[in-house]
Amino acid sequence: MDRQNEKALVGEAAATQFVKDGMTIGLGTGSTAYYVIKKMGEMIKAGMTLKGVATSKATEKLAIECGIQLIDINEVEELDLAIDGADEIDANFYATKGGGGALLREKIIANAAKTFIVVADGSKKVQSLGKFPLPIEVVPFGYKQTERAIRKFGCKTEIREKDGEIFVTDNGNYIVDCSFSSIQNPTQLQQDLNNIVGVVENGLFIDMVDVLISIKEHKEISVEY
Ligand code: A5P
Repeated sequence: MDRQNEKALVGEAAATQFVKDGMTIGLGTGSTAYYVIKKMGEMIKAGMTLKGVATSKATEKLAIECGIQLIDINEVEELDLAIDGADEIDANFYATKGGGGALLREKIIANAAKTFIVVADGSKKVQSLGKFPLPIEVVPFGYKQTERAIRKFGCKTEIREKDGEIFVTDNGNYIVDCSFSSIQNPTQLQQDLNNIVGVVENGLFIDMVDVLISIKEHKEISVEY
């Protein structure tokens, strides 16, 4: 099975198995969350009532195209579910996110959800986090100072660019991509990184994932709690 098929399978499984009539759902960002949103669109056409909160402007646009009624995160106390992709996830359900630059809104929305589900193709499951560069959102003012402070934690850093310009997040910030060869203590690291002045949020999602939907041995869907 190729990666695209795996993304479609896990995304659609998340929607059909977990999304129920009347729910308010946190809508993830990226190529796997795409299939969740598309499936939810089909479920709405078939008669379900659902509301969504988007984790990015790109997802907002896709959700509108799929006929999902969007609401502001501030209008609700909590969300029934949030479903999103990940860049890496280990056996403790610790995840790295932000490859698409949406980590801040993704974390706020995952935190607001009663249940946070990660949908991941077979390439995302890892023994330990760190192979995928960890994205960190920083404020533009003094970003090179912030980048230097981040490097003290033992990583190589790069300011993310797009089309030759610095990439700007939906919140008007920059992303520093940090290459650690391996992240030994993700719980400590996420706290340390967020203590650096200028860091808005980092892409480590620790003790947040409740359910992981992935692919086992390139063929079967696996749902782990
Ligand atoms: C977006 O900022 C990310 O956190 C994505 O959820 C993550 O990069 C996974 O994306 P794909 O599903 O496209 O691999």
